[in-house]
Amino acid sequence: MAELIVWSPAKINLHLEVLGLRGDGFHELAMVMQTIALLDRLRLRPSADGRIQLSCDNPSLPTDGANLIVRAAELLKARAGLPELGAHLHLDKRIPVGAGLAGGSSNGAAALVGLNHLWGLGYSEAELALMAAELGSDMPFCIGGGTQLCFGRGERLEAQPAPRGGGWAVLLLKHPAASVSTPWAYRQSRQQRQASYLEGEAAFEQRRQVLRQGPLLRALQGLEALPPLRNDLQAVVEPAEATVRQGLALLRRADAALAVAMSGSGPSLFALFADLEAARRSQASLASDLAAAGFDSWTCPLRPQGVSLEA
Ligand code: C5P
Repeated sequence: MAELIVWSPAKINLHLEVLGLRGDGFHELAMVMQTIALLDRLRLRPSADGRIQLSCDNPSLPTDGANLIVRAAELLKARAGLPELGAHLHLDKRIPVGAGLAGGSSNGAAALVGLNHLWGLGYSEAELALMAAELGSDMPFCIGGGTQLCFGRGERLEAQPAPRGGGWAVLLLKHPAASVSTPWAYRQSRQQRQASYLEGEAAFEQRRQVLRQGPLLRALQGLEALPPLRNDLQAVVEPAEATVRQGLALLRRADAALAVAMSGSGPSLFALFADLEAARRSQASLASDLAAAGFDSWTCPLRPQGVSLEA
């Protein structure tokens, strides 16, 4: 087979609520995740030597078993019981690394979907999502993507209709020097808020139901104005990271921004706009301040799907 191209998009969190602690030590979450059209490209070729070889245009990324692409490939081979399967994979990296945009998880999901196709394994999307959940909490979402409620560790998915009302878009900021450890952010949240964590499935389910019926999903359907966005990890990261405070203040100055928040455990930040033109105008009007503060910035529309094979 010739080369296969798989598109691997980033996500943002339109809602991230830490409900409580789980028996497995992870946090029980209630999230709304949204795929955005900021894409890495993964190119795959089969090989006959049983090896998984990864290369990347960004030399700072690991290309060994520390990369979720390699771990996904090895897991797929092991599950299929076919150690002779091999592939060359090349990643063109555009999603900022370590940003809370699930770039690594999306790449792992792209490897699962792409190699399943390349090797003719025939696993269903649901079977791939179960494998994805073994590798990372955000990975199952990245396969189907679009707009989804994500519960549990992030792997219990409820797909939502695509946002209505034209072309929602984001302006994204990431300071190249800023980085946040996800385990650190969850540990901090636990230290600060454990006393008020909910306990038990009934209490968790009540909050899930509030989110299902709440103003955010109605607003995404064009039925009412967007409420302020909630990210419980922002409350722990914002006081600790000066660039996060600075970036949020800059985004809040954007006239046409409908809402502003941190994504995931950060440090990337985003503002939502009614269309791409409005996002681009804000990027242009903030350009000198963003440059002075050292931020990288991107604009892109929301995207109605996750990983995709190039036709
Ligand atoms: O699953 P993933 O590798 O993305 O998680 C990274 C870390 O974030 C976990 O090791 C854990 O410390 C924390 N985490 C959590 N609860 C979640 C997801 C992640 O505590 N639901």
